[in-house]
Amino acid sequence: MASIIVDDRTYSVGERQNLLAACLGAGLNLPYFCWHPAMGSVGACRQCAIKQFKDDHDQRGRLVMACMTPASDGARISIEDPEAKAFRASVIEWLMVNHPHDCPVCDEGGECHLQDMTVMTGHAYRRYRFPKRTYRNQYLGPFIKHEMNRCIQCYRCVRFYRDYAGGRDFNVFGSHDAVYFGRERDGVLENEFSGNLIEVCPTGVFTDKTLFRHYTRKWDLQSDQSICPHCSLGCNTTPGERYGILRRVVNRYNSQVNGYFICDRGRFGYDYVNSDDRMRRALLRPKRDGISPARPEGAPEVLASAADRLRRASGIVGIGSPRASLEANAALRSFVGADRFFLGIGDREHRLLSTILTILRTGPVPSASMREAEESDAVLVLGEDLLNSAPRLALALLQSVRQQPMKRADELKIPRWDDAAVRNIVQGRRGPLFLAGYRRTWFHDYATDNYFAAPDDIARLGFSVAQSIDAHDLSVQDLSKEVRERAHRIAEALMQAERPLVIAGTGSGSHATIEAAADVAWALHRIGKHPRLSFVLPDCNSLGLALLGGGTLKEAFESVRQKQADGVIVLENDLYRHIEPAEADAFFDAAKTVIAIDSFDHRTTARADIILPAATFSESDGTLVNHEGRAQRFYQVFVPEGDITESWRWMRDLARTTSESTEDLSGVAAWQTFDDAVSGAAEAVPELARIREVAPSAGLRLVGQKIPRQPERYSGRTAMISHLTVHEPPPPPDPDTPLAFSMEGYRGPVASPLIPQFWTPGWNSVQALNKYQDEVGGPLREEIPGVRLIEPVAMKLPSRFTSIPRPFQPSPFRWLLLPLPALFGSEELSNRSPAVAERMSEPFISLHPSDGTRLRLEEGMAIELALQGARCRLGLRLDSSTPPGTAGLSLVHEALWMRLPAWVDLTESITAERRVA
Ligand code: SF4
Ligand code: SF4
Ligand code: FES
Repeated sequence: MASIIVDDRTYSVGERQNLLAACLGAGLNLPYFCWHPAMGSVGACRQCAIKQFKDDHDQRGRLVMACMTPASDGARISIEDPEAKAFRASVIEWLMVNHPHDCPVCDEGGECHLQDMTVMTGHAYRRYRFPKRTYRNQYLGPFIKHEMNRCIQCYRCVRFYRDYAGGRDFNVFGSHDAVYFGRERDGVLENEFSGNLIEVCPTGVFTDKTLFRHYTRKWDLQSDQSICPHCSLGCNTTPGERYGILRRVVNRYNSQVNGYFICDRGRFGYDYVNSDDRMRRALLRPKRDGISPARPEGAPEVLASAADRLRRASGIVGIGSPRASLEANAALRSFVGADRFFLGIGDREHRLLSTILTILRTGPVPSASMREAEESDAVLVLGEDLLNSAPRLALALLQSVRQQPMKRADELKIPRWDDAAVRNIVQGRRGPLFLAGYRRTWFHDYATDNYFAAPDDIARLGFSVAQSIDAHDLSVQDLSKEVRERAHRIAEALMQAERPLVIAGTGSGSHATIEAAADVAWALHRIGKHPRLSFVLPDCNSLGLALLGGGTLKEAFESVRQKQADGVIVLENDLYRHIEPAEADAFFDAAKTVIAIDSFDHRTTARADIILPAATFSESDGTLVNHEGRAQRFYQVFVPEGDITESWRWMRDLARTTSESTEDLSGVAAWQTFDDAVSGAAEAVPELARIREVAPSAGLRLVGQKIPRQPERYSGRTAMISHLTVHEPPPPPDPDTPLAFSMEGYRGPVASPLIPQFWTPGWNSVQALNKYQDEVGGPLREEIPGVRLIEPVAMKLPSRFTSIPRPFQPSPFRWLLLPLPALFGSEELSNRSPAVAERMSEPFISLHPSDGTRLRLEEGMAIELALQGARCRLGLRLDSSTPPGTAGLSLVHEALWMRLPAWVDLTESITAERRVA
């Protein structure tokens, strides 16, 4: 720690910071623009000027930029010095010369860092009376609105987009005072993290176009802590609602998970909550003949009918969901019994998940948090296309490649926050990042080495790396010299690293790559290294579901086929995404009663007799377990209309209605509040016991009060329903959490999951976050960053995996069809959001050019593919990163989802629109 003296008061601060961060961490107000806690300092805006004094006797001091000056022990500075204040006032006056002052019509208004800093600096009177510089704005796609006139040239956007997130289609152009931040020409911003520009830009140049479509002022948003449901990483978010419409999602800081940034799927995928496809009433289908529509009935009647049918059923099977909360799955499991609870995922996925769980449970290597991934100094990725399946992890790795080169800056004693100087030292050098996959993306440009091969060959590379690290008898046979040398190079880099990381996942559908990744990590552990492992999973609660445990879908089908059960309850799941359509059809045909609980209509709900409308992530409370094994809580943001309620409550009500007795309720039937649901899940299996620690329980009161979800500045409360009544109704009760759907309540410090939104007087923008940390970039005060449920077993080293696959052999007639995930298109929920739907590409198949020639197909042809009982039309891409003998199939076509890899005879199953003569 360092002691610094600010305006004659002494503060203890972290010594590796700059003075700006130190002052903000100490709770002081100092304006700034270009510095960003995750991106460091460049000293561009001159807004953070302070006076620094040499010693006690120095009365004159000198102006320095706080963001460019280390917080060294004994530093004596003044924020209040008149010269420093005058300097800052003149800086903001220059910056505001061309600013349009259009706050009343600006989407950023009320949450604008520029507004805050203008007020803080005291620039209240505009002296400039001449024409302002104006720009033409660009179309940047469905996510982001552009209004360049508001720019103050802080350069944060271009630093984030290009330096931090690796984007190439955005830059700074122009000269003198006509500096332009945008694309070379109008067009969609291509980078997967473009939405962060909205938060990074301190003014209203980049604003959320999806919010604009149903705009509301930021201070009118009711908000709460949430977890992104769109992939397995569990990024923290803050969704905002007004008038029963979910208006937007913004990043929410969690020091161990997503830090300051999320991906565009997580930010813009929320609009499915408002979709017209939403089911809002309990529905009853008189006959399951494929024609009869399901019609709305009162919820009690529907529940009575469901209970009646279930009472008459020969047995009931419950099918869980990897996208439903632990509590919802536990409720279903409690209702049907553990032996009749099935995980609701395909058999292949089931097996992959079980393998991953065994590795994490029994192995000596811990899984990596996203923060740890960012700090890794050598990374090997086997078989995962991270940019499309776990994008925030890819962003973390873009930072990890700077770790080794930055050591040179450390040697030269250049602080890491001095971004321009560090980048100058680092230049284009990158630390080791080895990517082994079967599709090239721009992310591969940042890798030390790329290896494109079929999954079996990728696994063989992994096993060979493990063998190079920890020489043993089990050598990989028939390895080419090139691959052997590559494996050796990778092994060397991992062994030299201090914090090596190995990543694999379920994305390629390959067991062998998962086992190879574990083998590499375990080999590193054996030689005394401290590696980390990371497995990317398909859904937001895949690991939670696997921890809960249950049978396979095949077993569920078998039980219905053998007439051991004819009642089926499907929880938040479209089974057609996990199994062959014919299999699903046969299953539903054999069942006498099908009850589906979900938030929107799909092929499974179309086969249900009874449909119960489920609350989405923003309408319910729940716990999700991310890819790392971290359990995190999401909270209800608003109360939905209609019959919509949490899935666990539907199960509770169904259990009660089915029960013979209204006394002596047990299991899920006895649950009253969400705390009971959490306890029910915690008691289901011992490994889930700690989910109770994820967030405070509902009984918590602070100074006798609940915590309000609505901000202090929430407006129009009495007028909101004045067209119905002039009386203000009481807020809806919330028996489930310590939070209230209200403006009234406790507003002091609380545990991090209970902070509804980050706000401090004078800090209305996202930058208010600094006021919630003791050290900028560190944990939040009272942070509960989730609870890790799986920690390594240090005692005994597990035995090696012995089933090393044979080299991949292309077949003369058949091609191995491999899954290609898509950031926009592969995930079921976000696909229903209009802005995301606009970014979905047409489905395509990719072949190696040599295979294109073999099949007499040309780039861009439209082809029709018959596969597993479905036909789909696809564009053809010839891509030299597709391994010969394989074909990549983009997973934007629901009919084909999740049943890959599979061998297909493309000569028979493809009908090309135009074959080459
Ligand atoms: S567009 Fe925003 S982030 Fe970019 S330079 Fe201008 S004010 Fe800064
Ligand atoms: S990386 Fe995954 S969890 Fe994070 S915001 Fe994106 S989709 Fe959501
Ligand atoms: S924040 Fe220090 S110069 Fe911009």
